[in-house]
Amino acid sequence: MDGTFNENDISRVVEADRAHVWHHLIQHKPFEANDPRIIVEGKGVRVWDQKGKEHLDAVSGGVWTVNVGYGRESICKAVYDQLMKMCYFAQSAGSIPGALFAEMLIDKMPGMSRVYYTNSGSEANEKAFKMVRQIAHKRYGGKKHKILYRDRDYHGGTLATMSAGGQNERNEQYGPFAPGFVRVPHCMEYRKHELGLDHLSGEEFGIAAANLIEEVILREGPDTVGALCLEPVTAGGGVIAPPEGYWPRVQEICRKYDILLHIDEVVCGVGRTGTQWFGYQHYGIEPDFVTMAKGVASGYAAIACMVTTERVFEMFKDDASDPLNYFRDISTFGGCTAGPAAAIENMRIIQDENLLQNCTDMGARLDANLRMLMEKHKVIGDVRGKGLFQGAELVADRDSKEPVEEKQAQAVVADCMAQGVIIGVTNRSVPGRNNTLCFSPALIATADDIDQITEAVDGALGRVFG
Ligand SMILES: Cc1ncc(COP(=O)(O)O)c(C=O)c1O
Repeated sequence: MDGTFNENDISRVVEADRAHVWHHLIQHKPFEANDPRIIVEGKGVRVWDQKGKEHLDAVSGGVWTVNVGYGRESICKAVYDQLMKMCYFAQSAGSIPGALFAEMLIDKMPGMSRVYYTNSGSEANEKAFKMVRQIAHKRYGGKKHKILYRDRDYHGGTLATMSAGGQNERNEQYGPFAPGFVRVPHCMEYRKHELGLDHLSGEEFGIAAANLIEEVILREGPDTVGALCLEPVTAGGGVIAPPEGYWPRVQEICRKYDILLHIDEVVCGVGRTGTQWFGYQHYGIEPDFVTMAKGVASGYAAIACMVTTERVFEMFKDDASDPLNYFRDISTFGGCTAGPAAAIENMRIIQDENLLQNCTDMGARLDANLRMLMEKHKVIGDVRGKGLFQGAELVADRDSKEPVEEKQAQAVVADCMAQGVIIGVTNRSVPGRNNTLCFSPALIATADDIDQITEAVDGALGRVFG
């Protein structure tokens, strides 16, 4: 077998896949009886599988990634031209697209100044964790090393990021984890009874949820806590937009105890939440670290960035005579030029096509459509999100908020798939809480696309729940 492929020979691909590919986050037993799905082609917001069946992809490549849609010739051309000229050199040297994308990115992130290139969201998060640890050693005798993370948040699949993982089902059976990571409570208003805060609402709830973080800091000892790592809007843990009042109080707490604020924009970053380039920018936050991956180049090339401030950068170059006094880290493929070349073109498209505005407008339509479905289908207990990043939580009972059975939520996804619409559902996330349908079409989605998605959900809910 030489890897060549005749367009008419898709069955060979299916068999090769079945025999040799270990897919991500999926049970393989069913593939003994059913074919694995092969996605063969994509254009705009639509993809075609091996049987030629067309689907509207309401999850941007499954995991919130293909923000500008499929088949973008200008990105492919930019990558081709760059690779022909200069494909790779380690990031100890610079590259033309690496420098130019960093400048473009920092222009969108007032207060930030340095970009560290890497391969994946997990790795970008680990770079920030390593910096926090090194700062602790350089300045605080190693003491201020603890990293706080939040219940329901996710920061990656490596062991260190899983040590900061707030989704117990993802972590189950992979321990022991790294020490020095401490969990803080979630801030989900819909399930505020779990936090003992059901007597509060709106801003009062948001401030109280943030104060729960302060309680953990005081319990651990502020002089042991180096950083707080949070998603601006929690993604796989249930699409949780923060309550009013939460973020200003979080920022205040971080400043009070000299704790670095690390915002994980791996999902929210580069336009997904509408209006702003980054999720944190909706809330007036001034972070110390911002990590991003998925939408940075919309999946046309692998690229992730760990972005920080000049203040943090300066801490790593204040004594050049000390041979350990710099960030002693490398990410081999952080030196690939395809990533920043694709990212420049990706960002240009978002700007030129006014996609931040389209994301806001179409996000509002998606939200309104889901709320209309909520009136019709009692099984929708809550609709939440920001921009084209929305979730609908399915419950068996609106008063008790008892989640529907996981297999029922999955049946809704399967029914939509049969109708040619790919939606998502929280998957092996929080035990008993894999019940939130997820919607994140590309930022180019039209009103008709949005309506097609919610019509499919309407039909599916009717069939699954009667
Ligand atoms: C919020 C968040 N952070 C980090 C990651 C990890 O990114 P990657 O899979 O690129 O390592 C993910 C992946 O889904 C994510 O959702």
